[in-house]
Amino acid sequence: MRFLLILCFWTCFLIENHKCTPEHDQVLSITAKTEEEVNILRNVSSEYETVLWQPAAPSYITANKEVHLFVPASSLVTVKDLLNKQHISHQVLLQNTQELIEKQTANVSSDPRSSMSYYERYHPLEDIYLWINRTTHQYPDMVQPILIGSSFEKRPLWVLKLSGKRGNQPKRAMWIDCGIHAREWISHAFCLWFVQYSVDFYNQIPDMTEILDSMDIYVLPVMNPDGYKYTWTKNRMWRKNRSKHPGNYCTGTDLNRNFDANWCTMGSSHRSCDDTYCGLFPESEPEAEAVANFLRSHKHDMKLYLSIHSYSQMLLFPYSCSYQEAANHNELNEMAKEAAMNIRRYYRNQYKYGAGAKTIYLAPGGSDDWAYNLGIEYSFTFELQDMGRYGFLLPPELISKACNEALTAVKTIALKVSRKT
Ligand code: ARG
Ligand code: ZN
Repeated sequence: MRFLLILCFWTCFLIENHKCTPEHDQVLSITAKTEEEVNILRNVSSEYETVLWQPAAPSYITANKEVHLFVPASSLVTVKDLLNKQHISHQVLLQNTQELIEKQTANVSSDPRSSMSYYERYHPLEDIYLWINRTTHQYPDMVQPILIGSSFEKRPLWVLKLSGKRGNQPKRAMWIDCGIHAREWISHAFCLWFVQYSVDFYNQIPDMTEILDSMDIYVLPVMNPDGYKYTWTKNRMWRKNRSKHPGNYCTGTDLNRNFDANWCTMGSSHRSCDDTYCGLFPESEPEAEAVANFLRSHKHDMKLYLSIHSYSQMLLFPYSCSYQEAANHNELNEMAKEAAMNIRRYYRNQYKYGAGAKTIYLAPGGSDDWAYNLGIEYSFTFELQDMGRYGFLLPPELISKACNEALTAVKTIALKVSRKT
């Protein structure tokens, strides 16, 4: 019987492979060599049932830059055929994404939070809410929950305020948000890692003590809870939030295109079905509005803004919404450079750094540019691991290294900022 099945499969595969659906969803790495190939690639990524991993939108595709394209099993043969016919070079980056997704979602809800291994796994939204609750109860003198608003689907947006136990003088503050983009799971993992590291190593590691004694740290572990939930239950590749606006055909706005920084100009999309859809107007999304309101009300003490994304290993700073240079460009560049150096020194990993627009692409409406223009002079977006080996499907075994190196960058920059007079 088994033999017959195999025989049948192979005959079908050999005779007419168009009718055989491959079993696995894959991620292809594709590099266009000419403008013509760029156009074909843009079409493939928008016309077929695929999801662009890198870059974030078809318009960003350029010649000689690697494109990472998620292709579901159902369109794999068509897409590969088309690439072959056009002689566009490509290779399979991930040949079975389902397997990797299973690794990322395996044994999530076992065991108490105290064991370190909790932080070396990914957690569904409900578990993160439980974690927030437990952490605030376990460390009441250091961790305080603040409700800053709710998502489109009315889920709470919890910020954890971390503070050292010394020094009552008026303090500066810094902000970290994770999970603006739903599918970037290492980002959410980082916020959890960071909070636990802070409470564990306050009074143990001098840098951490100094940072927490001189700045309050506001951490938003899940900025896009509806999207994150959706990646666990419906579509692992989802990026945007889950808002539905009257008149829009598709669901979801890119929260990192919804801020008031050259909003909805080139580098974002007016079309609701696109992954870089900018929304109806700046802060049309409750998630973006809640963050903007909170930062506005803390703008006098807020010195540092950090937004955690993945993937591509980059430390970016304003501007992304234009090619203009930030007033303190050199200072931002020095900070990013030192952070990248430390990552290289301690973790032997390469991070690129620079102004967003010049380092990756023009991307208006981002939270970092908006926060910078609000007056938060030190503003960064981190793109964590990896470079595309696993992309968004970074296996749990790699969480600890990814978080530790990002932590090095955060500490480097936070320390510099906290020492400014
Ligand atoms: N990958 C991120 C995005 O496309 C980069 C963010 C950089 N900052 C920005 N304001 N666009 O959203
Ligand atoms: Zn992102």
